[in-house]
Amino acid sequence: METIRLGAADTERAAAILREGGLLGIPTETVYGLGANGLDGTAVERIFAAKGRPQDNPLILHIPSADWLERYCADIPPAAYRLAEAFWPGPMTMILRRKPIVPDVVTAGLDTVGMRCPSHPVCRAIIQAAGVPVAAPSGNASGRPSPTNMEDMLEDMDGKIEGIVDGGPCSVGVESTIIDLTCVPPRLLRPGGVTLEDLRSVLGEVEVDPAVTRLMGPGEHPKAPGMKYRHYAPKAPVTVVKGDPARTAAYIRRHIQAGEGVVCFDEFAGDYPGHTVERLGPAADKAAQARNVFDALRAFDSTDVPAIWSQCPDEGGIGLAVSNRLNKAAGFHIITLDEA
Ligand code: TXA
Ligand code: MG
Repeated sequence: METIRLGAADTERAAAILREGGLLGIPTETVYGLGANGLDGTAVERIFAAKGRPQDNPLILHIPSADWLERYCADIPPAAYRLAEAFWPGPMTMILRRKPIVPDVVTAGLDTVGMRCPSHPVCRAIIQAAGVPVAAPSGNASGRPSPTNMEDMLEDMDGKIEGIVDGGPCSVGVESTIIDLTCVPPRLLRPGGVTLEDLRSVLGEVEVDPAVTRLMGPGEHPKAPGMKYRHYAPKAPVTVVKGDPARTAAYIRRHIQAGEGVVCFDEFAGDYPGHTVERLGPAADKAAQARNVFDALRAFDSTDVPAIWSQCPDEGGIGLAVSNRLNKAAGFHIITLDEA
C-alpha cells in the first residue's frame, strides 16, 4: 500500500483515515504514534500486525480532554482529576478501570485501560475532528527505538499504513509517563516527561515499579506488560556507563575497541576520534538528552558498529526516563563507577 504523506493542515484527511478504519502515523509531543480508531477492534488489530507487536501488550487511548474519561473508564478516583488538572494535556498516561465499551483487543484482555491526553496541537486537532478515542502505540516496529520524527517512523512503517502526518520533531522525545491509579499507593510503571517528582507533588506517595530500574527475573511480571520486552534495542549490544560525566568519558576512552560506537554528552564528542559518535546533548541538559536518545540509538542501525558504549544522566527529573530507555536498550548491562 502507498503511505500518504500529510501536512499539519490536512486535519480532515487524517481524521477520515481514522474514521474509516485506517492506520495513521500521528505526531505527539512524546514520540510519533501508530493510531487507529480505538473503538474499532478490527482497525486496532491491524496496529499489532503492522508493528509485529505481541498480542498481550495493551494499547493506550488518546483523548482530547479529561471530560472523555467517563466514557471509557469506571471507578475514576479523584486523584485522576487532580493529575489531569496538573499535567494534561501533556506526556502522562493514567491506568484506570475500563468500561466494557473499550474493545478487548485494546486492553489485551485486562480490566484496566491506559488513558492519555496529548498536547501536540496537530494531534489534538486530528482527534477532535475524528471524534473517537485514538488507540496508539509508539510508531516503531516492535523492539526498535520509538520514532521522534516522521522520517524515523517511515523507516519502520512506509507501505504498511494508510497515512502519516508530519508534525515536526517531538518536543519531549521519550514516551509518556505511565502512572497506575488502580493500586494504593499509585505506581509509576514507566518514567517520562512528567517526572516522579511532579507526580509526588500531586499524589504524595508514589511507588516505582521494579521494572523501571532493573531487569525482571524469570517469573516476575512488570505491571505494564510492554516493560518486559527487549526494547529500544539497536542491533549492536549496548553498555551503559554511569557516574560523573568526566569519569565515564575517560572510562569509555580506556575500554573502547576499534570500530565501536559511542553515545556521549556533547562536551565529550571530540574525545573518540575514529569512532562513530552520537551526541546525547549537554551533560547538564536532560531535556535535550530526552529529545535525542532514540535518534542516537537508531542512528547506529545504519552503521556496522559491533558494540555501543553510552554515557547516562543521573535519575533526577527527566533523567529517570532517559536512563530507563538507555538501560533497556542495554538490556540493563550497566557499569557503575564509584564516586572518587
Ligand atoms: O507517549 C506515549 O505514551 C506514546 C505516544 C504515541 O502517545 N505511546 C506509547 O505507547 O508509548 P506504547 O504502546 O508504545 O507503550 C504503552 C505502554 C506499554 O508498555 C503497555 O504495556 C503499557 O503502556 N500499557 C498499556 N495499557 C496498559 C494497562 N492497562 N496496564 C498496564 N500497562 C499498560
Ligand atoms: Mg512503544
